[in-house]
Amino acid sequence: MILITGAAGYIGSHTAINFIQNGCDIVIFDNLEVGHIEIVNELKKLGNVEFEQGDLRNLEDINRVFDKYSIDGVIHFAAFALVGESVTNPSKYYRNNVYGTLNLLDAMVAHDVKKIVFSSTCATYGEPKYTPIDEEHPQSPINPYGNSKLCVEYMLKDYDTAYGLKSIRLRYFNVAGCDEQTRVGEWHDTETHLIPNILKSVCEENKTFKIFGDDYDTPDGTCIRDYVNVEDLAQAHRLAYLYLCENNKSDVFNLGTEQGDSVKEVFNTCEKVLNKKISVETVERRAGDPAKLYADATKAKSILKWSPERTLEKSITTAYNWERKLNKMKAGKQWQ
Ligand code: UFG
Repeated sequence: MILITGAAGYIGSHTAINFIQNGCDIVIFDNLEVGHIEIVNELKKLGNVEFEQGDLRNLEDINRVFDKYSIDGVIHFAAFALVGESVTNPSKYYRNNVYGTLNLLDAMVAHDVKKIVFSSTCATYGEPKYTPIDEEHPQSPINPYGNSKLCVEYMLKDYDTAYGLKSIRLRYFNVAGCDEQTRVGEWHDTETHLIPNILKSVCEENKTFKIFGDDYDTPDGTCIRDYVNVEDLAQAHRLAYLYLCENNKSDVFNLGTEQGDSVKEVFNTCEKVLNKKISVETVERRAGDPAKLYADATKAKSILKWSPERTLEKSITTAYNWERKLNKMKAGKQWQ
């Protein structure tokens, strides 16, 4: 069985679907602090899926899972991921993202499970020294969230050297879109990301979308990011896991489309795809936003044979369908 931590969350749930649809039996481990039981229930309908509620900060919780199931490998998502919150409450981030992962790795070593795919981030690069960003770019995060993910990358290298635990570290750029069948999606109680925030301005009354700054050194003045579709990203996790199984070798890969879109371009694409005028205003810059981030993903394409296929339009359409479903559900209508 494959253990997927954090599979009740956004990227974890999409990756779980990919593994299930490719015939894998999975165990979900999630504390449901940011994940949702409705997502778990949705995944359970799709195949042989076990759910264990627990917290990585308790070593016994995770040891119990390894005792109970025969785990072949781990895909690790469980983490907090709000950059702003990590600045005001770093303790929460180090305790969960770093200490929690330390417990997970110790439980793996104790149970002789030696394969892990880790959810890392382009936030470990910090302020870019050049673009596109390849895997050799220096890692110098500018916030505790990025630091916490980089700490885990260091731990993984050391656990490989000492215990032969092999890892693939996947550094995502900006993840977008939702399951085409709207079974799972992006569901954050505190939403900070661009596309869901634009869509909330469409779906919720009297909401104006705010562009955080239009005076950056970019062609239209707004920040440029690399929006990679979540289903393409899910596929990359399975390819990474297969690569680990075949090669038994640790490695690191960027995951992005290699294409940059500005905030205004994304906004205009939303208006075009949805054929709606969206209320918008420009406000002050948000602290800590670099002007331009996009990936060089040559390595993932050539070694993992990964090819991101879904367009920004597709990500927006699927995210919109999900946002509408979520809104109905929040309005008290039944989950369907
Ligand atoms: N933005 C707006 N208005 C909004 C939300 C975002 O203008 O309401 C802008 C941001 O200022 C930024 C761009 O849209 O220029 C993208 O912002 P997101 O918050 O969607 O994503 P980030 O680029 O901040 O994502 C970063 C890293 C990821 C990391 C993530 C953590 O790129 O690697 O933060 O949530 F995982």
